[in-house]
Amino acid sequence: MFDRRKFIKKSAVWSGYALAAVAIGLPVFSFVGFRKITKKKIAFPPDSQLAPVNFKEGVYLLSHKDEFYALSARCPHLGCTVNFDAVSKTFKCPCHGSAFDLLGKWISGPARKNLQPLPIKKNSNGDIETVLKI
Ligand code: FES
Repeated sequence: MFDRRKFIKKSAVWSGYALAAVAIGLPVFSFVGFRKITKKKIAFPPDSQLAPVNFKEGVYLLSHKDEFYALSARCPHLGCTVNFDAVSKTFKCPCHGSAFDLLGKWISGPARKNLQPLPIKKNSNGDIETVLKI
């Protein structure tokens, strides 16, 4: 026989569970699954005005044998910004100590991946542009 009290009590309990699942799940899904990736254009001045190692807004632009290349400064471990050490000519992550060579190849530390290379092109002003995905 249908018991209205039991039904209302169970409905209240299951509504609470559903509410808790939404309250916990929504922030987790929004962080993990639904992050919007935006692209940011970063322009460096023409190559004649650049140093061998240049940094701007999370991007390193470096020259090697008169060729420029760009690397993301985002550490592949947990996303800290790596610093360039001019003495050892390596990139070092201040967070957990990963190190990368001048071409962005992983040397040591917990990152175990290379720094992300970024495409570059010259725009009509002669500036060197790259696109960083955030
Ligand atoms: S974030 Fe760079 S080593 Fe952990």
